[in-house]
Amino acid sequence: MEDKGGMIVVTINYRLGLFGFPPRKAGVRDVVSNAGLYDQRLALDWVQEHIHRFGGDAGRVTVIGESAGGGSVMAQLAAFGGEDASSPFQRAILQSPAMKPIINDSQYELVYDYLLETSGLQSYEELRNLPSKDVQAINTAMVSNAAFADTVFQLNVDGEFLRDIPVRLLMQNKIDQSVDILVAHNSNEGIMFTDPRTEDDDTFRAYFANLLPDLSSEKLDIMATEIYPLDFSGTQPYKNHIERLVLAVGDCLFDCYAFGMNLAYENRTRGYLFDICPGVHAQDASYSLHDGEETDYFGRPIDFLAAGAMKSWIVDFTLMGGRHGSAARQLPIFGSTARILHVGKQDATESNFTVVKDPAANPRCQFWLDGVFA
Ligand SMILES: *[C@@H]1O[C@H](CO)[C@@H](O)[C@H](O)[C@H]1NC(C)=O
Ligand SMILES: *[C@@H]1O[C@H](CO)[C@@H](O)[C@H](O)[C@H]1NC(C)=O
Ligand SMILES: *[C@@H]1O[C@H](CO)[C@@H](O)[C@H](O)[C@H]1NC(C)=O
Repeated sequence: MEDKGGMIVVTINYRLGLFGFPPRKAGVRDVVSNAGLYDQRLALDWVQEHIHRFGGDAGRVTVIGESAGGGSVMAQLAAFGGEDASSPFQRAILQSPAMKPIINDSQYELVYDYLLETSGLQSYEELRNLPSKDVQAINTAMVSNAAFADTVFQLNVDGEFLRDIPVRLLMQNKIDQSVDILVAHNSNEGIMFTDPRTEDDDTFRAYFANLLPDLSSEKLDIMATEIYPLDFSGTQPYKNHIERLVLAVGDCLFDCYAFGMNLAYENRTRGYLFDICPGVHAQDASYSLHDGEETDYFGRPIDFLAAGAMKSWIVDFTLMGGRHGSAARQLPIFGSTARILHVGKQDATESNFTVVKDPAANPRCQFWLDGVFA
């Protein structure tokens, strides 16, 4: 089959933290606040221009990203209004796309204030005169003094690259509809981002008040009483304060973005739900990039059968999309019933892939997608 001619893998770098996402005062354009996204775009444009020199086809480019990488892919799809089918790629794989749910320019200004406060500087003019290692030290100080799991720096609405907050762009389908999408998430996304000392409702509320500084107290109340009620009797999918926060954090930072992607593409997407114990955030990357290792990033034994299958979905999706003969066809089209392939631990004799209803297709995610930022 000529389609199975092989593929070229291009890995890119982009600036992170204060270097990649420098905050600025609302309305003041003294710095490019989404520099990291422009770095990615430059690399993708480079591929368009030069990949033929390596035997590649600029008309068949697939981007793949996990976590912040998945969030970056989402931002690239929504870039510059997202509507004009201008993405420098044709297919995209988003694994547990992650993003802080904010952030418009007046909200990102809080990070700018924090920068001035931490550095003792008054402006970017002064910052630019510092040696790189001093800027690195300011970056480190800002991140290490932040709240639990708070990355501080972040994609932000700059009015140009990102014209609105990503959730709104998704809900308005302001995203490049010409791209073919595979979107995945894991069964236990929230746990690594939840403070294990959580033991009351105040901690729950404080977490989201910090994450979403402009969330109204009415919305926070709805979250804490209706969406994630304090009910540990077994009618909710949590039995204590930690599990409650884990669920809400997983919804807000990961799972509901995956669901939102499916909706934004009118359910024409394919995807999987990775559920090999413990099913934590990014565990599936050890599988989709598996190169014979015995254990995953977290030291758990790798299920080789699952890893082999996942790699074949990704490679075939890249080479052939969902066309006849592609292993990616094992992943169902999401459709109106929210179908997704459940990846469980494999039995040596019997495959443990089943089509299930995506657990992220739920009213909690409807709230995050429609209710919080509406
Ligand atoms: C930024 O978001 C806050 C809270 O959602 C809102 O009050 C403010 O008007 C927004 N600013 C802009 C410029 O959109
Ligand atoms: C997409 O799937 C969701 C979840 O099942 C459903 O609510 C929605 O109506 C579907 N939309 C379309 C366009 O099929
Ligand atoms: C299938 O996967 C689930 C989730 O990982 C696991 O609990 C179950 O034991 C697996 N079944 C077999 C036959 O391995």
